[in-house]
Amino acid sequence: MDFEVLRIGQRLVRDDRVTTHVALVARAFGASKIYMNEVDPEIKDTLNKINATWGGNFEIEFITDWKKIVKEKKVNSKKIIHLTMYGENINDVASSLQKEENILIVVGAEKVPREVYDLADYNVAVGHQPHSEISALAVLLDRIQNGKQLLTRFENPSREIIPTKNGKKVIMNKTMDK
Ligand SMILES: C[S@@+](CC[C@H](N)C(=O)[O-])C[C@H]1O[C@@H](n2cnc3c(N)ncnc32)[C@H](O)[C@@H]1O
Repeated sequence: MDFEVLRIGQRLVRDDRVTTHVALVARAFGASKIYMNEVDPEIKDTLNKINATWGGNFEIEFITDWKKIVKEKKVNSKKIIHLTMYGENINDVASSLQKEENILIVVGAEKVPREVYDLADYNVAVGHQPHSEISALAVLLDRIQNGKQLLTRFENPSREIIPTKNGKKVIMNKTMDK
């Protein structure tokens, strides 16, 4: 199963931290890539440092035209899941989503253009109250993978955590250059 994430829109500066957190959740919960507008170019460095320290090859691509990405993915048989509180309740569609192979998850920052609702194969609500794209993304990825993503070992990390009941145990696999 492959997941990618597309974040549409960002309110200048105000959303920087939220955007970083959407990317961090996407990576930690098993997505391979995120597409977003280039509002804060530093986000690429932040995520590259996370990859270098904690492993994996999570990618960020800056885009200008979200519609082009959605249409390309549809041509390549990806299913488009748009997260919106107006959609079908996740409890009713989780089992169908689990059967899909390749998924592009679309999240908004501000009001999402109407066209997204029509282009989506699934409009999915994580409950019908407004909350956040960070939480909606985490819950969706968790419901689709049933928690398996939390056991993933990321490739080639410099540091790895050994879970402990108390304190912090970290293995240093190699010296970090930067
Ligand atoms: C802060 S909300 C903005 C919502 C905006 N008022 C609208 O009508 O589209 C940002 C994003 O969080 C996600 N989101 C918020 N609440 C959600 C929910 N209950 N279910 C699914 N996604 C949600 C959606 O992707 C939404 O575009």
